[in-house]
Amino acid sequence: MEIIRNIKVMQETANAYIREAKTIGFVPTMGALHEGHLSLVERCRQENDIVVVSIFVNPTQFGPSEDYKEYPRDLEGDIEKLREMEVDIVFCPTAEEMYPEGYCTYVNVEGVSEKLCGAFRPGHFRGVATVVTKLFNIVKPTRAYFGQKDYQQSIIIKRMVEDLNFDIDIIVCPTVREKDGLAMSSRNQYLNEAERQAATVLYRAMQAAREVILSGKGFGEAKEHMQRVLRSEPLVREVQYASVYDPFSLEDITTLDASGYKGRKVLLAIALIIGKARLIDNMLVEVTQ
Ligand code: PAF
Repeated sequence: MEIIRNIKVMQETANAYIREAKTIGFVPTMGALHEGHLSLVERCRQENDIVVVSIFVNPTQFGPSEDYKEYPRDLEGDIEKLREMEVDIVFCPTAEEMYPEGYCTYVNVEGVSEKLCGAFRPGHFRGVATVVTKLFNIVKPTRAYFGQKDYQQSIIIKRMVEDLNFDIDIIVCPTVREKDGLAMSSRNQYLNEAERQAATVLYRAMQAAREVILSGKGFGEAKEHMQRVLRSEPLVREVQYASVYDPFSLEDITTLDASGYKGRKVLLAIALIIGKARLIDNMLVEVTQ
């Protein structure tokens, strides 16, 4: 496994593989790898000749009062995990090389970036779209893999790839959960034992809403159930959003009639704070009646 820190070296290595007509699969990450990341790497390994994983904690997607400095980092541990998964290249550039002095170009996907997490983390998705664009131009992948856990991020990237004509297939893989339903996330490390127990509330709340929708009741009622479950957990400090959304526009659809969505999917999504962790989760539910 090759570890590349330099942008030019990564580009030249990618060019050489492209000249040999090899497919390059790419998994962008911020490190602190867990089973969720590794499931993306596994899928990427199955579908491509060459597997590149990037590890880069991207400063431009963190707000000034967010956890950029504290974000968990374990480069040695990550490299070991990736070696075991037969990854070909780990690309881990420095922030100074990615954003040298004078850097002033950003990518903004309008509309969807301002909804849900975007409303609480201004500039976050601009940072994500910018770094993913840069990584795509450096790694030159055939396919790139993202987790459904960051659903909003995945639809923003898909939109960006379409609008900016990147010739890259975006593959979104299912959320990997702990046995009790908690979605795997590097930020789960911030939780103490009691908070970790409380964090199952996201999954419980979505399950409650899902059952309401599957029983043919309205989206408004589903939202009420979801919020009732969230309120029952005393360690939840703040609920930023929790509702039923259109999976494409991310509009809140709780005032709409569910019959308009029959045979289609709706998105249940939640963001909340427990302890010092901001946790997000989501679930797609097919409206059957
Ligand atoms: O999902 C993440 O880990 C990050 O947002 C990404 C896509 C690696 C960009 O920094």
